[in-house]
Amino acid sequence: MTQDELKKAAALAALDYIKPGTVLGVGTGSTVNHFIDALTSVKGKIDGAVASSVATAERLKKHGIPVLELNAAGELPLYVDGADEATRHLHLIKGGGGALTREKIVAQASEKFVCIIDESKLVDVLGRFPLPIEVVPMARSLVGRELVKLGGEPVLRQGFSTDNGNIIIDVHNLKILNPVEIEEKLNQIPGVVTNGLFARRPADVLLVASASGVKILR
Ligand code: A5P
Repeated sequence: MTQDELKKAAALAALDYIKPGTVLGVGTGSTVNHFIDALTSVKGKIDGAVASSVATAERLKKHGIPVLELNAAGELPLYVDGADEATRHLHLIKGGGGALTREKIVAQASEKFVCIIDESKLVDVLGRFPLPIEVVPMARSLVGRELVKLGGEPVLRQGFSTDNGNIIIDVHNLKILNPVEIEEKLNQIPGVVTNGLFARRPADVLLVASASGVKILR
C-alpha cells in the first residue's frame, strides 16, 4: 500500500467516532482531506463542522458541509486531525502544514481528539520532524535566539504566512524527551503564538494505519 492509501485507511476508520446530530472539529492536511471527502457519505447525519484552517473550511464547503464558527459551536464532542509525528503516549508534533494554532484551539475545545496517521509517523521520541512554531513576525530574531538556548536549530519557513498572518519557525534537532515540559517552556517565550507540541492536550485515540490494518492506540 502507498502512504496515501494508508492515510485514507486511517481517515475512514475515524468515521466510526462520529455521533449523529453533532458538530465536528476538523483538522488540516492530506490525511484529513480523505476524512473530509468521506464525510459526504454521512453529510445528512451531522450538523456541521468547525474548521482548523481556511483550506479545510473551503474543502468542507465544496462538499456542502456547513462550516460553523467555534464561538458559535461551543464545546465539540469530536475533533479529527492528522499529525507529523506521534508517540505511543499519544503526544504529537503538528504544524507541518502551518495550521497548528487553530488546530490546538479546536483540539482544546473538543471532548475527544481522534488522531489519524500512517505508521511512518509513529516514533519513540518526538523531534526527528522539525518542530513548527508560529511566531509574531516582530519577534522572529528574539524567538530564534531563545530556541538556540534550548538546544534547537531554528529555520524560518521561507515565503510562508499562517492563516493568522504570522510566520513559522521550524526547529531542527530537538530531542523531545519530556514533551509536556518543553511545550510549556516554549509557551513562555514572548512572541511565540503556538508551538506544534500537542502534549498538554494530547490525542485521546490514535488510529495508526499499516498494511496489516488500522491499529487503535488509547
Ligand atoms: C497541519 O498544520 C498539520 O498539523 C497536519 O495535521 C500534519 O502536518 C499532518 O499532515 P498530513 O496529513 O498532510 O501528513
